[in-house]
Amino acid sequence: MSELIKDLKEAKETKDKAKEAAAQAKLDQIISYDEQFYLPCFGKRVPLVVDHGRNVYLYGTDGKKYMDMIGGIAVNTLGHNNGRLTRAISSQARKVIHCCNYYYNEPQTLLAKKLVEKSFADKVFFANSGAEANEGAIKLARGYWFHKGTPKPKIITATMSFHGRTMATIAATGQEKFRTPFGPNLPGFEYVPYNDINALKSAIDGETGAIMLELIQGESGVHPADFDYVQAVRKLCTENKILLIIDEVQTGIGRTGTLFAYEQYGIQPDIMTLAKGLAGGVPIGAVLANKMASTGFAPGDHGSTFGGNPLACAAGLAVLEEIESKNLLGNVNTVSAYLQKKLANINKKTKKIAEVRGKGFLLGIELDSGSASEVKMKLFEKGFLVSAIGSNVIRIAPPLILSRFQAIKFTSALQDVLQGKE
Ligand SMILES: Cc1ncc(COP(=O)(O)O)c(C=O)c1O
Repeated sequence: MSELIKDLKEAKETKDKAKEAAAQAKLDQIISYDEQFYLPCFGKRVPLVVDHGRNVYLYGTDGKKYMDMIGGIAVNTLGHNNGRLTRAISSQARKVIHCCNYYYNEPQTLLAKKLVEKSFADKVFFANSGAEANEGAIKLARGYWFHKGTPKPKIITATMSFHGRTMATIAATGQEKFRTPFGPNLPGFEYVPYNDINALKSAIDGETGAIMLELIQGESGVHPADFDYVQAVRKLCTENKILLIIDEVQTGIGRTGTLFAYEQYGIQPDIMTLAKGLAGGVPIGAVLANKMASTGFAPGDHGSTFGGNPLACAAGLAVLEEIESKNLLGNVNTVSAYLQKKLANINKKTKKIAEVRGKGFLLGIELDSGSASEVKMKLFEKGFLVSAIGSNVIRIAPPLILSRFQAIKFTSALQDVLQGKE
């Protein structure tokens, strides 16, 4: 009997080893193809070939399970394989995936209506990404002044901001490293320090048509705007008749615990952009504008072949319905408070965290010492996916469905990593 058990055990070990070797061979092949065939934009990536996902977990082709604490960089609002979202996408795909904007389509109109009902906005335009939404916002602001007959092309943005990778949005981005290699850059942008109202006041001149800001600078280390600053910016814009563009590409769609982050600042923008989380992973971008700013586009001024296609808009509708019906904003607020308490406790024990910044499910954990990339890779080995920003910030942006139990699992893994436990 014991011989039989031994044989079975050996057979299982041999099978497991063969499976592991096959998974490793697949990983090696994908990495080698990536090096050969993909433009080297991403450098060396985390060695995970994603196969499928469910709830807050991603599974590799090797069968390993990872808690997705970065959610496709604030994109997978409902996690992976959400029933309502996949049903909406597949049923729309069976009807029609794309029709051009020569015609009307119901999901586009209904999503625009829903966004208007839930926000400050009167009008919406759909694009396909955050950068494209910001391109639209920049054009809309310039178009507004042009159509008024007094062109004011200058747009003031913040240093360390991030607005995208296209030519206009790198020009809007207040970080030289994104602009310099691709000059000459689009003129008409000026950068001022974030959270400094006097710097903003000094930069305004007769050419200034708009101010463009994020409410949390996500890509440069999760830095939130101060409440008083945002209030003062709004007042400044109103007094000087300058358009206020708020880039909520990363903060929008419940990420910070309200549907839009501007709600927490007691202000309303004139123009707002959305993307990432809006369709839960189907590419989409949106420009939202109040009545006044909407006059920036006349027929023929702007457009998009794919933007507003029925598939992406059906997905967007499903995301908004699910947020509402499952009270995901409530979940973000409860679990975020819990996460932040746990992170404070970890710091008491380890003294390894300098600061935790952000709101809701967009948090930056600044390390006191050690490298964020190393912590990221150690978390990966333990089955958790996060992003590292710069040398010392771990960013998490999990799906809005993350439970308290899953938050405990993550924080205890982080504590182990910070304490050097295997
Ligand atoms: C605030 C903000 N704006 C714009 C973008 C660009 O979005 P996309 O990558 O979809 O073009 C990002 C992406 O990280 C972002 O965080």
